[in-house]
Amino acid sequence: MCGIVAYLGKKVAQPILIEGLKRLEYRGYDSAGVALLEDGTIRVKKTSGRISALEGVLSDPCSTETLGIGHTRWATHGEPNTANAHPHVDWTNKVAVVHNGIIENYAALRQWLKNEGVVFASETDSEVISNLIGYLYANAKDVEGQSAFEWAVQQALRKLHGTFGLAILCSDFPGVLIGAKRGSPLILGVGNTEYILASDAAAIVEHTTQAVYLADNEMVIVEPDGFHTKTIENVTITKDLKEIEFSLDQIELGGFQHHMLKEIFEQPAALTTCMGGRIDAHDGKIKLGGIRDYLRELTRARHVIFTACGTAFHAGLVGEFLLEQLARIPVETEYASEFRYRNPIIKDRTVVIAISQSGETADTLAAVEQAEERGATVMGIVNVVGSTIARTTDTGIYLHVGPEIGVASTKAFTAQVAVLSMLAIELGRRRHISSDQAAQYIDELSKIPEKIELILQQSDHIRDIASANIEKDNWLFLGRGFNYPVALEGALKLKEISYIHAEGLPAAEMKHGPIALIADGMPAVFIATAGPQYDKIMGNIEEVKARGGKAIVVATEGDEYIGEKADHLITIPDAPELLQPMLTAIPLQLLAYHAAVLRGHDVDKPRNLAKSVTVE
Ligand code: G6P
Repeated sequence: MCGIVAYLGKKVAQPILIEGLKRLEYRGYDSAGVALLEDGTIRVKKTSGRISALEGVLSDPCSTETLGIGHTRWATHGEPNTANAHPHVDWTNKVAVVHNGIIENYAALRQWLKNEGVVFASETDSEVISNLIGYLYANAKDVEGQSAFEWAVQQALRKLHGTFGLAILCSDFPGVLIGAKRGSPLILGVGNTEYILASDAAAIVEHTTQAVYLADNEMVIVEPDGFHTKTIENVTITKDLKEIEFSLDQIELGGFQHHMLKEIFEQPAALTTCMGGRIDAHDGKIKLGGIRDYLRELTRARHVIFTACGTAFHAGLVGEFLLEQLARIPVETEYASEFRYRNPIIKDRTVVIAISQSGETADTLAAVEQAEERGATVMGIVNVVGSTIARTTDTGIYLHVGPEIGVASTKAFTAQVAVLSMLAIELGRRRHISSDQAAQYIDELSKIPEKIELILQQSDHIRDIASANIEKDNWLFLGRGFNYPVALEGALKLKEISYIHAEGLPAAEMKHGPIALIADGMPAVFIATAGPQYDKIMGNIEEVKARGGKAIVVATEGDEYIGEKADHLITIPDAPELLQPMLTAIPLQLLAYHAAVLRGHDVDKPRNLAKSVTVE
């Protein structure tokens, strides 16, 4: 949610900033801008719209400066126009700031600064930061061991409530870049003679794989010959260099039209990596190294709460079925945004499991903090290595599926379910099911990637189904049991990228209201795979057809009977019911993808959304 990038080095900064912003654009794309120091003066270029629009307003020939900051915005305070675009400069044009996060006390600070004669040019909370630093800098006295710029930044940060990832320039210090963080991610890429400060590693890997991950309330002062880190309370700290774990080709399109399609097709390989080294189909064992020290505590859990947002929440719902069925542990799954405000009951031996692709979602992070304060053991299931949730939780399991760039989550969902399946089988083996049963599930789990491969081969067929129904503006997604959360996820995918209204439901609930909507060929997507509820869902298909609806059915290969009932049929290979969500999700991802492309939408950057929601 907003991407920031800054460069200090020997190369010309502007193209590096633009390239970095393009790689961060999935974090927000309402407006974009850069600020460069030219002959001791800060020059800002910014515009509403995407990075491509920003390129249109940049000076030609390109600025030759080697220090600059850039921003791509997901609007919170103030509409996405040019005035509200970042960078923001202070009213004296000495300090420029790019900001990711939300300043909660901005109204009070703004009023105070206005009373002091400071002039504001935008409606954003972020402009308060540049003006506050500018104001403090203008009034700075000589400080021992610190430049007035650094001092002013530090003093300003102490006055801010809320979250920030920041990159800051001052025109009086043409060789200094300052970064700071609280609640929003910030990484300093460290090259031989250059530094790239960015919201995430995607903007850095092209230049270096060595990085420093800042923690909350830390700042970094970067100069041409080195950098040093401090807390905002001015305590010097030493940070280790870490290797960034992904490579450039993981974040490039590699021949696919969109990142989302690439990520859908990556799923067989992604799940193989996610489960590789963790499941041993031969020995029938599961090894989850990340939670080794907490296995006993997890096995003894009396109560598990999954907490997450969006797609990760749907994975949590699948996890609820899995843990209850295999390990007989009572589970609740809660939206993180609700959990954090509901005064949750955390009893002895309650384990809270936060699920998050990015590891930065503000509500999920707040839920983690809330659970920790109340004494729960908190575990994370996270994709982004070193992210805030990964670092804040007591223990955890990484997805290890590489970066997910498409805003609509796909491979992270199936990997979250794969991790939850492994966890449930392992805890199940320790609590409820036999070793033989566990070994059978592990064997089935190891076959999931090749089964996904077979489903992907139906992509063209699924596009035809999307095309036949593309004029329809309302869809239903219906599933039961383990496939009920997949129905929710299918509906979410379609909404997110096609802007088609869709509702996901447990199939039996349809007759308690939503059935009134069925008429005139309204598409209803059923997940009617082999399992204990098959006959029931067949009944639901009949009910839809009897009322003029169209049944798009995901069924198990070889089910000839259902072929006669369905208006459109998609098949998946047979698998135990509890592992099916990793298969049934795939056709629904493809359906949403093709519908969005057919409707002419920007699949990777759907309107109003952002990949990583770092605001509440
Ligand atoms: C945003 C994204 C969703 C994602 C959700 C949770 O809304 O658009 O795709 O599922 O955040 O993100 P997380 O990174 O915590 O899984």
